[in-house]
Amino acid sequence: MKVLGKIFKLTGLLSVVLAVCLSKAQAAPKKPALNASSSQSLELSQPAPAAMNSPVGFKVKTPDEGTKISWLGMGIAFFLIIGGILFWANDIQSFAGILFVLGLFAGFLALGQRHYYHYFANNQGYAPQQPISYPHVLHAGKLKIACLYCHYNAEKSDVASIPSVNVCMNCHSLVRSATGDSGPNPEISKLVKAWESRDSAAPSPVVWERVNKLPSFVRFSHRIHVANGIACQECHGPIQTMTRVRQAAPLSMGWCINCHRLTKKEAPAHWKHAGGPLDCIVCHH
Ligand code: HEC
Ligand code: HEC
Ligand code: HEC
Ligand code: HEC
Ligand code: HEC
Repeated sequence: MKVLGKIFKLTGLLSVVLAVCLSKAQAAPKKPALNASSSQSLELSQPAPAAMNSPVGFKVKTPDEGTKISWLGMGIAFFLIIGGILFWANDIQSFAGILFVLGLFAGFLALGQRHYYHYFANNQGYAPQQPISYPHVLHAGKLKIACLYCHYNAEKSDVASIPSVNVCMNCHSLVRSATGDSGPNPEISKLVKAWESRDSAAPSPVVWERVNKLPSFVRFSHRIHVANGIACQECHGPIQTMTRVRQAAPLSMGWCINCHRLTKKEAPAHWKHAGGPLDCIVCHH
């Protein structure tokens, strides 16, 4: 029994160290593959002002991109908890307790830590995997394509809209592989496949995962905010630096209200008006 205990103790500690290392390794931000040549001239430029890179009034702390479940870490957590149960069955409760706590902690790390807290609170930091890993950092960052080139509805309607594949094909009928790559880029191939299927019997459009979503009982209009001169980045964070889009703001009622309360003096100078509505009925109909 004593030997068994020692073995469990050692493996338990080792597992936690491993789980911590794993989560650290996962948290390291991936380098975006930026290999667009500078000779490509796209006259759609609209760089974002540096001062606009954070949602108003909030220091945005979002999990690093690409954080996801570590199955190895989950296995370790499972192993720890089984160990705890074995100790419990053998009447060594204190040790069992330690293993349970360590097991739960390892599980928390393995789940990608804060990435999953939106199940308990708001969705801030939510960054789902998309059907095509479309990088804003390349298109809106490096190539400096204006946000409104693709999200042109943001200027004229409540919704900003995700562009249809046709908009992508304005360029990608020519750009079919990344420069420097020998073969076709697999992500661009997915796009081309979706486009080519458009007139077929079974079209397979790209179904993007929605990131920012308000409950249906809230009314929000992009047009009014964009027309007021509020930059996309003030609500969505520095999208032009993101490989995968994440929800930068909490999108809570307090978040809307805090900004609507700003006076002319507190608001950034580039806004036409400060102060939005505070009446319930304007946002809730
Ligand atoms: C070349 C087209 C293109 C350009 C330019 C572009 N986007 Fe996007 N955007 C997309 C596509 C496609 C998606 C859906 C896939 C995704 O979420 O990555 C998207 C998603 C988004 C989303 C998340 C939508 C949701 O589901 O909540 C936001 C916010 C956004 N874009 C903002 C911006 C901003 C701000 C800029 C300018 C800095 C910009 N986009 C430039 C194509 C574009
Ligand atoms: C005042 C804050 C604010 C500003 C400014 C803003 N957005 Fe949004 N955006 C939101 C909110 C809130 C949602 C969620 C809306 C919903 O669920 O009804 C959203 C959703 C989106 C979506 C996904 C849903 C949709 O409407 O199609 C896209 C894409 C998007 N925004 C792009 C942009 C772009 C591009 C700009 C700049 C031109 C911009 N946004 C400016 C707050 C803002
Ligand atoms: C204004 C032109 C233009 C538009 C519009 C455009 N792209 Fe691109 N896209 C490019 C260029 C240029 C590259 C860079 C190829 C390279 O790596 O040299 C690229 C690269 C890509 C890549 C490969 C990224 C990588 O990591 O190598 C994907 C995926 C992609 N685009 C998807 C899309 C999608 C989806 C849309 C529509 C929402 C879109 N593009 C719209 C010009 C455009
Ligand atoms: C970055 C600051 C900011 C944030 C965040 C913001 N708003 Fe606003 N909003 C404004 C300003 C400024 C105005 C007034 C615009 C004007 O008078 O032209 C406004 C106006 C409005 C209006 C009035 C539209 C109309 O028809 O008169 C509504 C509705 C609204 N906001 C809803 C929301 C909701 C819902 C949210 C949160 C999801 C939100 N806003 C978040 C700044 C913001
Ligand atoms: C500027 C826009 C705005 C105004 C004004 C506003 N709300 Fe909200 N409200 C929201 C948003 C956005 C949400 C959704 C927040 C969320 O899901 O976390 C919300 C959520 C709620 C909820 C649901 C809370 C929950 O936890 O589900 C209630 C109740 C509510 N609001 C009541 C009110 C009342 C009462 C007023 C007037 C005093 C008011 N709201 C004014 C934007 C607004």
